[in-house]
Amino acid sequence: MIQLFENARYDKLTGRCFYDIKEIEIVYVSGERTVIKIYFIIFIFSICLYSFNASAGFCPPTQNDVEGPYYLPDAPFRTEIAAPEEPGDRIIIKGGVLQINCKTALKEALIEVWQTDAGGKYYYKVEGYRLRGQLKTDKNGVYEFSTIKPGRYKIGGGYRPAHIHIKVSYPGYKTLVTQIYFRDDPYLWPNDACGGGCKSDDSKRIIFLETDKDGRLEGTFRIYLGKDGL
Ligand SMILES: [Fe+2]
Repeated sequence: MIQLFENARYDKLTGRCFYDIKEIEIVYVSGERTVIKIYFIIFIFSICLYSFNASAGFCPPTQNDVEGPYYLPDAPFRTEIAAPEEPGDRIIIKGGVLQINCKTALKEALIEVWQTDAGGKYYYKVEGYRLRGQLKTDKNGVYEFSTIKPGRYKIGGGYRPAHIHIKVSYPGYKTLVTQIYFRDDPYLWPNDACGGGCKSDDSKRIIFLETDKDGRLEGTFRIYLGKDGL
């Protein structure tokens, strides 16, 4: 007797597993397609079990970072943070916003984004909120925006590593203000001119950019919010 888990799926963006038991039936393994299907189901189920055990139902809230002096409220709602004509390497950032139980998605969470251009310069309201925007997660707590990879900029006697600022808000939860960094940046802490306060050595906020099946450069960043008062 074999349990068939139909529609088994591991969601990379949220780290959650989906599998609905559709039927229980006796399967006579007579064809190659049936064998492949069963292997696939076992594979997904194994990932789910590993994921559950590894997290033990607790994902620490994403670490805060310095807001800096360049935040502006009321940027336009858009998922294309960088306009098509913006110079630089195009990237996609996507992920999920979840509770710290690792699995409950927060739909319509507000995400505000601001960053520099490829040369390390910020822009303002009078410049059409260039490289700024806000967006919301969908019903599965998933978000995605396109932009360009920001540049480094100098403060004091050194450089800040390339980073994207985000602020994430949801009713009843602590507002998160943080920064996303990029792997292999030589200016991550301890070489970050921001000092230790920016915590740019936090491995959970350092993303790796990889090429997807459509040739786009993309990085995944999951966000965990803690409730107010905890
Ligand atoms: Fe910054």
